[in-house]
Amino acid sequence: MPRSRPRQRSRCASAGYFNNLFVGFVGSRPEKRPDGKQRLYIAAIAVLAAYRGLGLGSQLMQSVVDAAKTDETVTELYLHVHTSNTRAVTFYERLGFENVGVIAGYYAAAGLTPPDCVLLRMCLDGAEPTVDLAHGGMGAPARDDEDEATA
Ligand SMILES: CC(C)(COP(=O)(O)OP(=O)(O)OC[C@H]1O[C@@H](n2cnc3c(N)ncnc32)[C@H](O)[C@@H]1OP(=O)(O)O)[C@@H](O)C(=O)NCCC(=O)NCCS
Repeated sequence: MPRSRPRQRSRCASAGYFNNLFVGFVGSRPEKRPDGKQRLYIAAIAVLAAYRGLGLGSQLMQSVVDAAKTDETVTELYLHVHTSNTRAVTFYERLGFENVGVIAGYYAAAGLTPPDCVLLRMCLDGAEPTVDLAHGGMGAPARDDEDEATA
């Protein structure tokens, strides 16, 4: 059985508050690009249902993008969204992410129906993208033997 253990290295999380109430979060992690720069994988973002549509999700996501823009080592951000989550796709597009297209079967192991995801990415400073439909990035928890590949 796989063991679970806390791993803080290379993980980033930000919390969103409404009237001092914790109502949302965004989690990301850096990965090393082939050119030595970093790309940021947006692993998850969520706002409690009762607090959606108030701009909190946009603020959380924008804070990640703004932080990436001030870090010259980060030149790319990307994420996966289930194809049925069209509102989330619109949410990311409005924030400036490029809709690259559908990766068939990405969620097959998770048993989702359909098993497909939309790949969204944002390149900074005119950087060439390193994730595309053929190589959707790691986007999964790093294994111990991937430590060196993860920034
Ligand atoms: C996606 C999410 C984080 C957006 O947070 P938010 O605080 O509602 O975002 P904002 O208020 O800044 O922007 C609202 C926009 O988000 C999008 N959105 C996506 N899902 C939504 C939902 N369930 N309710 C309201 N808006 C949603 C819409 O485009 C909406 O714009 P609209 O009002 O014109 O329809 C939030 O809806 C959520 O937690 N959804 C469930 C988890 C999820 O789908 N995460 C993304 C998976 S990768």
